[in-house]
Amino acid sequence: MTIDKQLPSTRTTELDSICLKAEVIPVLAIRRVEDAVPLAKALVEGGLSVLEVTLRTDCALEATQRIKEALPQASVGIGTVLTPAQYRQAEQVGADFVVTPGTTEALYRHGVSSPVPMLPGVATVSELMIGWQFGYRRFKFFPAEASGGVKALKAFAGPIPEARFCPTGGITLDNADDYLALKNVMCVGGSWLTPTPLVEAEDWNSIRELAREAAQRFHH
Ligand code: 3PG
Repeated sequence: MTIDKQLPSTRTTELDSICLKAEVIPVLAIRRVEDAVPLAKALVEGGLSVLEVTLRTDCALEATQRIKEALPQASVGIGTVLTPAQYRQAEQVGADFVVTPGTTEALYRHGVSSPVPMLPGVATVSELMIGWQFGYRRFKFFPAEASGGVKALKAFAGPIPEARFCPTGGITLDNADDYLALKNVMCVGGSWLTPTPLVEAEDWNSIRELAREAAQRFHH
C-alpha cells in the first residue's frame, strides 16, 4: 500500500516523538490513587518517561491527572480505551496519547479529529488494513505473544512495511529484545515493570530498579 497524502492527520509524528523517548512503556493499572505519583515517579526516575495508565481501575483518570501535575516531563497516555466517550475523558484529563486494545470504526473516526493522538490496537492484517484506510500508520500490536508474536510482526512487514508497532501483551525482559530488533517495532509495552506485590507493598525502590534495568538494557 502507498501512503495517501490526502488522508486526515493521525499525528504519526507526535506518536513517533513520544515512542522515541523510551523503548519500553510501562502499562499501569492503578488501584489506589495515592500510589499514582510515587509509582510514576519511580518509573520516570528509573529512566522510563512514557507511561500508559489503563482505564481498568476506577481511579485511572484521577491518577493520570495527578501524574501529569507532578511529573510534567513524563508523557502519560491512557490505555484500555474502548469507546469514543472514554477517548473524550482522556482528552479532558490532558492525556498525551490514547491506546486501545482493539479498534472500532467509531474510535478511528473520533481519533482522526481528536487533538490527542491514538495508538490503535490491532492483531491481524485485516485490522491493520482498516486502520490504514483511516490514515493510521502507528499501531499497538495486542495481544502480541498470543497473536503470533515476532513472527506475525515480521509477516506484517511484507504487505505493509511502513506500519510501525508497539507490541504489548506477554512482553517481558526476556523477549523484549526479539521485538525491538524488528524494523517495524518502535517500542514495547508491558505490565512487568509494575508487579502488583511491589505496588501493594509501596516498594518504589524496587520498581525504580526494574525501570532502570529496562531503560539501560533497551536504550535507543
Ligand atoms: C496491555 O494492556 O497492554 C496489556 O495488558 C499489557 O500486557 P501484559 O500485562 O501482558 O504486559
